[in-house]
Amino acid sequence: MKIFITGVAGFLGSHLADRMISLGHSVVGVDNLAGGSIDNVDDKVEFYNVDCNDIDSMREHMKNCDVVFHAACTAHDGLSVFSPWYITNNTFQNTMSVVSAAIHNKVKRFVYCSSMSRYGEQEVLPFHEEMTCNPRVPYAIAKFAAEQVIQQLMPLNGIEYNIVVPHNIIGPRQKYDDPYRNVAGIMINRILQGKQPIIYGDGNQKRCFSFIDDVIYCLERIVLQEDVVGEIINIGPDEEFVTINELAKTISELMDWPFEPIYVPDRPLEVKYATCLADKARKLVGYETKTTLRAGLTKMIEDIKGKGSREFDYDLVNIEINNESTPSTWTERIF
Ligand SMILES: NC(=O)c1ccc[n+]([C@@H]2O[C@H](COP(=O)([O-])OP(=O)(O)OC[C@H]3O[C@@H](n4cnc5c(N)ncnc54)[C@H](O)[C@@H]3O)[C@@H](O)[C@H]2O)c1
Repeated sequence: MKIFITGVAGFLGSHLADRMISLGHSVVGVDNLAGGSIDNVDDKVEFYNVDCNDIDSMREHMKNCDVVFHAACTAHDGLSVFSPWYITNNTFQNTMSVVSAAIHNKVKRFVYCSSMSRYGEQEVLPFHEEMTCNPRVPYAIAKFAAEQVIQQLMPLNGIEYNIVVPHNIIGPRQKYDDPYRNVAGIMINRILQGKQPIIYGDGNQKRCFSFIDDVIYCLERIVLQEDVVGEIINIGPDEEFVTINELAKTISELMDWPFEPIYVPDRPLEVKYATCLADKARKLVGYETKTTLRAGLTKMIEDIKGKGSREFDYDLVNIEINNESTPSTWTERIF
């Protein structure tokens, strides 16, 4: 098959491209390198450095593709509260361009990469696919809005679709010099710089982390399999629900570093408890957690150590709303 992957120079998109190529499929990939790196893109990918908002390019490069996997996004959950225009432009608006081009090109299937942030703050845990979503931050609202457009337009135009809902993913190639997202990578990078991890709030907010390989084999089935069409599927573990304090402690232990984190005020609108039920993924795509959190973090630490620590890149995203509620970690650049 010919698979079109947006965000192919990023963490998830590049791993999926590698897997598709290893299975003998051909991959056309686009990325504007806003967050990804060309180093992540396999030579066998037919790569175009373009913005997904450029609808003419999307129409052109998507020609004759069978499946679209749309991962391109500036996936900054917390930062979207302070840069709503930029983040939603690269979450909702860019998706509309890719959706429109997919319909124009009559692709067979469209797989949209959403996010567990769609669920927002809920009274019931873990989050399941049928519950009413309550997205809080602009990023999550944009993700959920895009899902709804896909659910309306794809069936209308005879295109199969899936919506995948990953949790917090960790693993090699994840960007670790972005000060605004990827908590594990930020902590590892800081420790390599001889600095303590920074924790927002009391650190008792809880999350589940998925190792990248455990996400990729699920995506492979969703992209290629016939019997899961039209499904919204959470991807990731529903075990090892850990606090951010526990995450920081584990990383510190694995890096042989004294655990003395620096606590800073809460991040506005951050969801306290977020974990997804994996029953549907177990049933439909044979999900099982093959890599524990410790094992996944160990691989990620090795990868980052191999590349070396990096200065945090604050200029990656322009902060649009800079006032007393903007985290000082970002405005004062204290990473
Ligand atoms: N990593 C996670 O923990 C996680 C969790 C849930 C959902 N997701 C979703 O998975 C997808 C991939 O995330 P990731 O972690 O690999 O992020 P990433 O930043 O590593 O990859 C995203 C890629 O999209 C590119 N991009 C951004 N805006 C673009 C645009 N307008 N045009 C073209 N390219 C653009 C970036 O340059 C980057 O290479 C996103 O849709 C994200 O919302 C990720």
